[in-house]
Amino acid sequence: MFCTEYVNSKNVLRDLSTFSIGRTIHFYKSVESTQTIALSLAERQVANLHGTVILSEDQIKGRGRMGRKWVSQHGGIYLSIILQPKIKITQSGILPLLSALCVSNVIKKMTKLNPKIKWPNDVVINGRKVCGILLDISTEADKINFVIIGIGINLNINITKINSDIKNSPGFYGITSIQNELHGKEIDKFDFIRLLLENIELYVTQLENEGAKEIINHCKNISDTLGKAVIAKQSAEILQGKAVDIDENDGFLLIEAPSGCIYKVVSGEVMGKNVKKN
Ligand code: BTN
Repeated sequence: MFCTEYVNSKNVLRDLSTFSIGRTIHFYKSVESTQTIALSLAERQVANLHGTVILSEDQIKGRGRMGRKWVSQHGGIYLSIILQPKIKITQSGILPLLSALCVSNVIKKMTKLNPKIKWPNDVVINGRKVCGILLDISTEADKINFVIIGIGINLNINITKINSDIKNSPGFYGITSIQNELHGKEIDKFDFIRLLLENIELYVTQLENEGAKEIINHCKNISDTLGKAVIAKQSAEILQGKAVDIDENDGFLLIEAPSGCIYKVVSGEVMGKNVKKN
């Protein structure tokens, strides 16, 4: 798909204080998917891509996890960040959690809302999804070539239409937007993006230098999953039990089955389980 850049990217985030993330921003009015553009740039091995951001006002074919679509109306935030982080492949599962933590931090800083992280990488407010994160990774032997973190945030959008569009999709548990949660109030989109990129750079640097322990602790503190009865679908396998911990080495979820066995959930989908009260 041919699309021209929207405005001079240097003007998008004038006060950005990062070293690498967002120093180059390709800003579009409309694209099929920022993730697809980022992937094709990274796959062509264009030099110096670490920190490059692809940002669009809307997306025509926004991609969600597990082959789903991501409805991308004007007013939301749709961006993909290309990273070449100095971490082990086994730590790459931390990146979506880290991104969800950063989105939560910015929501908290800019509003009085109380966002939580639904493992592995949704941000929810009052139990409804406000942000989704998609990770594409390219590896070679034991080395990460690049990762692309795609972030979609329902910021200044009215959610009513999206709800009716996707309410029958598999895995749907309800969505919301920051504007809906703030009863119609809008938030400055570029302030939000600036704070988000600054937060992500801070935590990626921490992950590279000190490991994931503190990041995972922050995620645990605002987890919407831990302590709950859950059903986890992982490939063809279905695990049921209580979500008891998040592994600080790789970000995997630990589920305690009724037998007392602890299972590790690597990825997939975790749904809250309705526990019957007697
Ligand atoms: C999910 O299913 O929860 C993940 C949604 C990820 C959506 C974002 S929006 C920016 C980037 N471009 C895409 O096409 N998808 C991701």
